[in-house]
Amino acid sequence: MCGIVGYIGTKNCIPILIEGLKRLEYRGYDSAGIGVIKNGLCRVIKQKGKVVELENEVEKQNTSSTFGIAHTRWATHGVPNQINAHPHTDTEEKLFLVHNGIIENYTVLKKRLELDSYEFYSETDTEILVKLIESFLNKGNVLCKAVQYALNEVKGTYGIAVGYTDEPDKLIVAKKGSPLVIGIGDGENFIASDVNALIAHTSRVVYLEDGEMAEVYRDRFEAKTIEDEEIQKEIQEVTLALDEISKGDYDHFMLKEIMEQPLSVKNSFRGRLLFEEGSSKLGGLQGYEERIARSKRILICACGTSWHAALVGEYMIEQFAGIPTEVEYASEFRYRNPIVTPDDTCIFISQSGETADTLAAMKEAKRRGALVLGICNVVGSSIARESEAGVYIHAGPEIGVASTKAFTSQLVVLALITILIARRRQLSLIDGQEIIRELDLIPAKIEQILELNDEIKAIANEFTGAKNFLYLGRGYNFPVALEGALKLKEISYIHAEGYPAAEMKHGPIALIDDNMPSVFITPQDSVYDKVVSNIEEIKARSGKIIAIANMDDEKIGSLVEYTIRIPETIRMLMPILTSIPLQLLAYHIAVKKGLNVDQPRNLAKSVTVE
Ligand code: AGP
Ligand code: GLU
Repeated sequence: MCGIVGYIGTKNCIPILIEGLKRLEYRGYDSAGIGVIKNGLCRVIKQKGKVVELENEVEKQNTSSTFGIAHTRWATHGVPNQINAHPHTDTEEKLFLVHNGIIENYTVLKKRLELDSYEFYSETDTEILVKLIESFLNKGNVLCKAVQYALNEVKGTYGIAVGYTDEPDKLIVAKKGSPLVIGIGDGENFIASDVNALIAHTSRVVYLEDGEMAEVYRDRFEAKTIEDEEIQKEIQEVTLALDEISKGDYDHFMLKEIMEQPLSVKNSFRGRLLFEEGSSKLGGLQGYEERIARSKRILICACGTSWHAALVGEYMIEQFAGIPTEVEYASEFRYRNPIVTPDDTCIFISQSGETADTLAAMKEAKRRGALVLGICNVVGSSIARESEAGVYIHAGPEIGVASTKAFTSQLVVLALITILIARRRQLSLIDGQEIIRELDLIPAKIEQILELNDEIKAIANEFTGAKNFLYLGRGYNFPVALEGALKLKEISYIHAEGYPAAEMKHGPIALIDDNMPSVFITPQDSVYDKVVSNIEEIKARSGKIIAIANMDDEKIGSLVEYTIRIPETIRMLMPILTSIPLQLLAYHIAVKKGLNVDQPRNLAKSVTVE
């Protein structure tokens, strides 16, 4: 789920591994560990808590080595403590392994190993894998073979890195369902679960695919499948720059990413707007445009924030392209018997491109013959590679666990896809041109909203004591209400719910009193008057209201206590604007409460386990 970093070369690996782990901290974790080979012996140091605590411990023990692997753990099996932290070792402490993912059949394997007298010290599923590899080493196999035999017995997901004191010239990595990348250096090699951990050292990388493994030496690597077939892997150049994954002058990555939105949104449509044709150009969908436009149905699958973007996409596609569109949680889609036919187009949205549920849903849709498209941020990610065609959102690295700029960029790309297909169906040239013109104006409008930062901060300061929040919006702004509530929950730990504003009177209104604030997203669109009636209903019950309203809305000021006034655009693009004050509101409430907004408790940036 979280982080793996490894090094084999001639330098002292300790600072490389610690720095690499720090670059992966954004993914969320609960403990960290490091394992090295020193004077022919394996040395493991682990700590519950933050990487800096591990760093202090490693410094105290004054160790150095030219071979090491390190890990940040996001506990799935066993509480977060020092014993359960990785690396895990074999009985003789010659073999050490770090693992991201879940070994699903660990109970069966454990029973078998116990019958063979293997003993276990931790509660993790990972330790079973180490002991399983040990059992194959004890039968006289070399490390690579032992790892292959073990992985062939394992059910579940893994990204692993393994070191062994009897074969100290290599480290072994393998992947299934959890990312693993090799960084190629000069006389040294790196491995990691995420390129962010490597780019300070090399831009040349090799992505492993599911079922693949590699023996990584100081000066070369040999890739094969876990069935021992040799494979050739292509070395790719990554273009990420180090300052893209640094906080710069900002206190938090989340604030930096919110503030970056004029640019990230622009990057999402840069070179893709066709002003004259009133359409869009999406290189990743070239050759597929007609097939998408002729789809009988469009299904959009995603999780979390990306799922909220999908809901906005549904409104856009149905309104402008007139194709029946459904949105589904990827986690539900994969385990029911969904009706998907070759006439359908299935779009999978994922910032990280690694979300296990979304990836599995994608594979299922592919198996059923639908056209499978990906909308991803992380270039080269699993979902991007698995899709037949797709569109990168180009928002740049998103480090804050709470997604912000990826959301607005996903909305831009959904709008571009909508225009692309709608212009091949029912959208007129004039209407297409208007959408394109409005999209082009969005970054300047976001700039205007970001100028309200201090004003929003002042409002946020009034609400740090709230225990519950309601977010209400209609039409295109209903998914924004869901997203606003999710942002607040994730980073401030305040319970928040999003509802279509009219649904409020079918239940949630029972909760309203002067301790339960409501946020209304109420631009002056066709349902404005209806939303105003909902505002009156809350006021009548002494509820406090924050409204996100248009600049020239004269009525709203007399109705609610707090108004955040934002510029206008066409309805389909309004969520790109309305979501931004909600990001800032959540951010400032969480900061005022003294919480770690970039790494909220229990959350991981990319959820590569079920
Ligand atoms: C967003 O703030 C969340 N941390 C989470 O809901 C996230 O959107 C979800 O896990 C999906 O991630 P993905 O876009 O990388 O697939
Ligand atoms: N399932 C393993 C554990 O709980 C690995 C978790 C992770 O991916 O960090 O230890």
